[in-house]
Amino acid sequence: MLRRLHPDQPSSFAFTPANQAWAEGQMTKYPEGRQASAIIPILWRAQEQEGWLSKPAIETVADMLDLSYIRALEVATFYFMFQLQPVGAIAHIQVCGTTSCMICGAEDLVAVCKEKIAAEPHQLSVDGNFSWEEVECLGSCSNAPMAQIGKDYYEDLTAARLGEIIDELAAGKVPVPGPQNGRYAAEPLKGLTSLTDYDSGKTQYNASVQLAVDLGDTVKRIDGTEVPLRMPWQGANENAAPAPKPKAKRKPAPEQVTEVPAGVKPGTLKGPRENGADDLKLIKGIGPKLEGMLNDIGIYHFDQIASWSEDEVAWADESFVGFKGRVSRDGWVAQAKALADGQDTEFSQRAEKDGIYKK
Ligand code: FES
Repeated sequence: MLRRLHPDQPSSFAFTPANQAWAEGQMTKYPEGRQASAIIPILWRAQEQEGWLSKPAIETVADMLDLSYIRALEVATFYFMFQLQPVGAIAHIQVCGTTSCMICGAEDLVAVCKEKIAAEPHQLSVDGNFSWEEVECLGSCSNAPMAQIGKDYYEDLTAARLGEIIDELAAGKVPVPGPQNGRYAAEPLKGLTSLTDYDSGKTQYNASVQLAVDLGDTVKRIDGTEVPLRMPWQGANENAAPAPKPKAKRKPAPEQVTEVPAGVKPGTLKGPRENGADDLKLIKGIGPKLEGMLNDIGIYHFDQIASWSEDEVAWADESFVGFKGRVSRDGWVAQAKALADGQDTEFSQRAEKDGIYKK
């Protein structure tokens, strides 16, 4: 299946403050310089917030992780879990079409979707409220046929029951997920044949369904307030309500250099010298975005950075929005000295070999 960005794109994307804080927390899970590893959870969060991944959303995530846009696009277009087109405003219904579900009636479920939503998968219903697709096995084969709607599974479905569920969702109700035929979980339909004295905990529903019912809305978009936002190592209040950092702008323009809080601004040039600018991305810690920010204030060459004093490093550490502390943390000056002297660094060798950051 060809996976392309949708032709109609919004002009911008921004995480909610709470989701922004959550995403920044995810980035702290990885060692310095490996923040790109957080790309899947952060793309996923963008999708949970908006329902699908727009180009601005993918690029916003790439900027956060200091990745070339193509790297983020590669991930977003590779994994089918990422929706690259708008989905229904109320729900996107994912009908499992793999063996168990197919044998047990998945085609009837697809027929319901075609009739009630749209003739083709990934098409919006006329009112824009629903969309559907057929997906591979969702791991609930003993409760076939089934569909995932929002965050939850609706199992042991019939065509009639799926039709009712769509109607209930359209009416603003939240149907109880889980088995739709009276089963508690995945036990035999005629009742337990072993472990008959097993006390299942005696919640009204099985564990995941009970949680869904307690949360109360299976198709709600995630705005970031639903879960603890801080990683445990970010502080002790991981169960507290989020206190997102105030941010003036999520996507600062390259010329947005902060007020000088400390240190001394380094000398700059009006433009690169005759032979052109150095590839500052060969310095570990400088990606395309930071290189643009440096160029915008008149820093183009390794030897400029190599000559920075402690005060100038302090200035630079504080001055690039979204990259505080990176200059000293990544040792830009020492790297720049080596590169200015015509030597390679371990990172520059790897960057040239692997084509890191090459757009
Ligand atoms: S075959 Fe449908 S959930 Fe596995």
